[in-house]
Order: sequence, then C-alpha cells, then structure tokens
Amino acid sequence: MLAIGCDHGGYEMKEAIIKYFDKANIAYKDFGTFSTESVDYSDIGYEVAKAVSEGRFETGIVICGTGIGISITANKVKGIRAALCTNSFMAKMAREHNNANILALGGRVLGIDHAIDIVKVFLDTPFSGEERHSRRIDKIRIVENGDSSSK
Ligand code: RB5
Repeated sequence: MLAIGCDHGGYEMKEAIIKYFDKANIAYKDFGTFSTESVDYSDIGYEVAKAVSEGRFETGIVICGTGIGISITANKVKGIRAALCTNSFMAKMAREHNNANILALGGRVLGIDHAIDIVKVFLDTPFSGEERHSRRIDKIRIVENGDSSSK
C-alpha cells in the first residue's frame, strides 16, 4: 500500500497518477490536496512522510510544483529517504542504490506520461541490497541521528 499527496502545484499530476493506480489495481491512500486551491506543500509532505516513517505505508509519492519543497519537507522526517526524480534512470538508482522510500515529483516540471513512467520504475525496482549501498545508507542514519562522525 502506498501513500500519495501533493500541493496545488501537483494536484493535476496526482490525479493522473491515481487514475493509473486505479487501472493497474495498485492500492493507495490519497492524502490530498483535493483541488487546485493553494495549500502549503509542507503540510502534505509531512503527513505522507510521517505515515511512511511510522510504517503505515511502505512507499510514498509526494508532488508539488517543482518537487523541491515537498521533498525537502519529507526528508526532515526520520527514516525518510525522499528522492526527487526527473527521469526513470534517477528513479531506478533511487531504489537500487538509495533504497528511497518516497518518490518526489514536480507537477510543473514533467509531462504526465513521463511522470507515470518514473512512478512505474520507482515502484518496480527493488533495493540492490549490496553491501556498499547498505553501508552508505547506514551512514545517512548516523547523520540523521546527530552523530557528527559518520566515517
Ligand atoms: C507553490 O506555488 C510552489 O512553491 C510549490 O508547489 C513547490 O514548487 C515548492 O517547492
């Protein structure tokens, strides 16, 4: 089950992605927003990230105009590795190398079809599990926990 949320800048893209989920029988919870009325990306980004960080959802997708504000927000939540991707290669690497648990997209940056291709790759790609990648992610955790020496 995945969590998806956006601000007004990502609303149209979220709706298109949800249509794809419905067609493909992919289970999701929609955290809003539910119209193009202006909202703060930080509110929705936090709600989605918190839900993933608490283990209520395995994966999240967050969308704002550029994907920047909402990914910055999500990355402030403990345990979240949110990857802002503008192409499928980044989505693949975000999963294989970074074990990203949230995909961030820019609703005003990408075309809908392109964004859906990125979503598909992100959801279909497992973490490689290779030692060097696990080690680096462990070091991210050390930084997150406030330890100054991750080396
Ligand atoms: C909202 O206008 C816009 O700032 C927001 O969607 C996002 O692009 C911020 O990073």
